[in-house]
Amino acid sequence: MYTSRIAGIGHYVPDNVVTNADLEKMMDTSDEWIVERTGIKERRWIDPSTGDLPSTMGTKAAQIAIEKAGLTPDDIDFIVFATLSPDYYFPGPGVQVQDQLGIKEIGALDVRNQCSGFVYGLSVADQFIKTGMYRNILVIGSEYHSGGLEKTTRGRNVTVIFGDGAGAVVLQRGEDGKGILSTHLHSEGKHAEELALIGPATSRWVDQIMSENDESDTSYFPYMNGNFVFKHAVTRFSEAIIEAAAANNVQPADINLLIPHQANLRITQFIQRKMGLSDDQVYNNIQRYGNTTAASIPIALSEAHMEGRIKDGDLICLAAFGSGFTWASALIKW
Ligand SMILES: CC(C)(COP(=O)(O)OP(=O)(O)OC[C@H]1O[C@@H](n2cnc3c(N)ncnc32)[C@H](O)[C@@H]1OP(=O)(O)O)[C@@H](O)C(=O)NCCC(=O)NCCS
Repeated sequence: MYTSRIAGIGHYVPDNVVTNADLEKMMDTSDEWIVERTGIKERRWIDPSTGDLPSTMGTKAAQIAIEKAGLTPDDIDFIVFATLSPDYYFPGPGVQVQDQLGIKEIGALDVRNQCSGFVYGLSVADQFIKTGMYRNILVIGSEYHSGGLEKTTRGRNVTVIFGDGAGAVVLQRGEDGKGILSTHLHSEGKHAEELALIGPATSRWVDQIMSENDESDTSYFPYMNGNFVFKHAVTRFSEAIIEAAAANNVQPADINLLIPHQANLRITQFIQRKMGLSDDQVYNNIQRYGNTTAASIPIALSEAHMEGRIKDGDLICLAAFGSGFTWASALIKW
């Protein structure tokens, strides 16, 4: 059996910086409230005049990852694209990346696992590589939240948290034992509506929403039961990390760098304390980007790598929790 290693990483975020002070002008909120509850100071929101979309941002991140892997787009055998905010209802953006990169007619798979989407995607790609089916797979996480958020006081508990951006890796066949050691995927669908965007979708089509013409209807904005999500997040994040460590006969404290999905700085700090990790063992950039859902781990991985926080031989743990609920982890020997 082969192993799969991350051969190249890239990220792309829109230029447009939205600070907490900018949000204060749109809704009844404050920099103090947002920083204290979430740690977020600013986020990137797409300026629609730029034409940025999940597919184009994903392509830009992928181009960097491919270049850093020392490859060209034609070396890519398969695309896995994780997002909850596709350009279109269908088709998913994987095929758009195939087109935008000008690659031959390879397969493209779309993953719908929200904040856990990137780790789910990485796990899928890992299986294809380990069995020998593919040699180089692009795994992309990209999100365009800002266009669909309710930018008023009514939507403030969700809107202040989310940001736009994309990250990508090239997962490559290796034979030296380094790379992804294990991945762990979970779901608990009974909580699907605790963090969700219900419609428009098949359970609530556009014509129903329009015919009701109900001003109090918020089903087409993201909904989050914040306290409920918070409590489940701290438990499931911890379980996912412990599971990844146990599967490889190491302790959480042996992890050189934990790169958690950037959900909320308070959640990450809680996990850090619970796992007994030092500041050097945990990567945070939510302060600058907010929660970018499927893009948050590859953006953080890319920045951590650029900052020299990841060294050869390090044990890197990726862990995520989000809507579904879904949660997931991956342990990587760099
Ligand atoms: C969203 C979250 C930050 C809210 O923090 P909280 O401490 O739970 O706050 P609450 O929802 O209890 O709200 C407290 C008060 O702040 C208010 N509030 C909510 N959003 C606000 C905002 N952006 N600005 C100012 N006040 C706000 C509420 O209306 C409430 O007011 P009230 O006491 O008068 O009713 C927190 O629940 C959270 O981070 N949850 C998990 C989020 C997450 O990780 N989501 C992604 C998972 S991948």
